[in-house]
Amino acid sequence: MTNLVEMKGIEKRFPGVHALKDVQFDLRPGEVHALMGENGAGKSTLMKIMSGIYARDGGEMLVDGKPAAPDGPRAAQDLGIGIIHQELSLMNDLTAAQNVLIGREPRRRFGRLDEAALNAQTAEIFASLNLKMDPRTQVSTQTIARQQLIEIAKALSYSPRVLIMDEPTAALNDTEINELFKVIDKLKNDGVGIVYISHRMDEIKRIADRVTILRDGAYIDTVQAADTPLSTIIQLMVGREVTQDTPDIPDTSQSPVALEVRNLSRGSEVRDVSFNVRKGEILGFAGLMGAGRTEVARIIFGADPRDSGEILVHEQPVNIRTPHTAVQAGIGYLSEDRKHFGLAVDMTVRANIAMADLGRFAGRSGVLNETAMERVALEYIDRLGIRTPSDMQEVRFLSGGNQQKVVIAKWLLRDCDILIFDEPTRGIDIGAKSEIYALLEDLAAQGRAIIVISSELPEILRLSHRIAVMCEGRLTGIVPREEATQENIMKLATQTDGLAEQTEETTQ
Ligand SMILES: Nc1ncnc2c1ncn2[C@@H]1O[C@H](COP(=O)(O)OP(=O)(O)OP(=O)(O)O)[C@@H](O)[C@H]1O
Ligand SMILES: [Mg+2]
Repeated sequence: MTNLVEMKGIEKRFPGVHALKDVQFDLRPGEVHALMGENGAGKSTLMKIMSGIYARDGGEMLVDGKPAAPDGPRAAQDLGIGIIHQELSLMNDLTAAQNVLIGREPRRRFGRLDEAALNAQTAEIFASLNLKMDPRTQVSTQTIARQQLIEIAKALSYSPRVLIMDEPTAALNDTEINELFKVIDKLKNDGVGIVYISHRMDEIKRIADRVTILRDGAYIDTVQAADTPLSTIIQLMVGREVTQDTPDIPDTSQSPVALEVRNLSRGSEVRDVSFNVRKGEILGFAGLMGAGRTEVARIIFGADPRDSGEILVHEQPVNIRTPHTAVQAGIGYLSEDRKHFGLAVDMTVRANIAMADLGRFAGRSGVLNETAMERVALEYIDRLGIRTPSDMQEVRFLSGGNQQKVVIAKWLLRDCDILIFDEPTRGIDIGAKSEIYALLEDLAAQGRAIIVISSELPEILRLSHRIAVMCEGRLTGIVPREEATQENIMKLATQTDGLAEQTEETTQ
């Protein structure tokens, strides 16, 4: 059987970065070939070469056994190669259908757009994804998860023979992931070869046939997924053993309350939610996606209005109307949509990190102390393992996961008493995760009150002193660390009362 694609001796350099060193990769028809490696290992770069976005500096590539060098996405599509990018590339002001069929809109006579056909063709692709969405929906009104699904529909519309998925599930919930996996199974049956990139280790066992591991731009190995333990794959990725420990935590049950929320409500998304967080405490928020956790965070941070309810900081009622007033009250929020709110991508890593707390770096004359900024930037680059040639690199040149680490560094540095982290380790590699946990624990030990929203239960169980569980806008329980198990949390997370309206997922 000929390989669909074969890559050998691939080389790629960027200024200051040897991104790919003698890398090999091949893809067979009807297989899911996972590409694994830490943030910055070179996964996206290799796939951008395969899909014609970057030119390679060396090595060869065969498609169906014939030499190929696609010089753009169009040329790659002609070879049957499609890619779903890690970063969403949709046009926000267009409708879902206009995005899916962009550049190939069905036309009537005199070149007039055939709206009906455009929407019908898109509806068909949505149906195959089991995605309930009106093709006329404007993209900007949709959650990141649903934008990701539009992106996937767009790639499928080309009927590719090779489909590259670069972290397609980073923003999806369990139901959406299951639907996607069904689509992947169907594509496999049709003989499509799929390259699959993900930092969610559990997915690899579920869908991958083979796994290729990159480390620091170098090819490490290709293994069969079925007979390779995850711990081996992780070790190959990280180059050392990673231990998962559950540390003891200090008792904070008597500490003063830093944040108290009373009877918070907003439409059907948040219904009568009350809880508190103490100084030094990490309060986890568990629940299925759309349960209302992000919405609670956004209301506390003043990003969305509330219908009723009270917020108290250090036992004083505060009138939070905007994010600005929230920050003044000492509340910080790392949003799950980091691209839009967290980064100035045209600025350097150093400037982005320092921006979190310019006051700290401004001298009496208002001139910024670059040396101090550099010191702090280098410290966080080191602690979080941010892969960058220097702290003066522009953020847009970093890999997806390393950009996220920069946002996280900003919020870790920010001088807030109360910090809310929404999915802090999404898209972050397994080695850096434990470092982020350690930093969150440090912040708590310094007396900050911390809320962590995460869809990864092991993460919640590992970090939280107490776990608040939400379902359909309600708080269904608060479980102390000692009593928390995956089972009892899941039970609370699915404890529906049947009252919630059948709304589409919460828009944010
Ligand atoms: N356009 C670019 N200019 C400069 N450096 C780049 C560019 N694209 C990627 N790099 C660098 O090449 C290396 C590999 O990046 P790549 O995006 O391939 O990583 P990745 O394995 O996809 O990581 P992640 O899991 O974070 O997405 C990184 O050090 C990155 O900073
Ligand atoms: Mg990447």
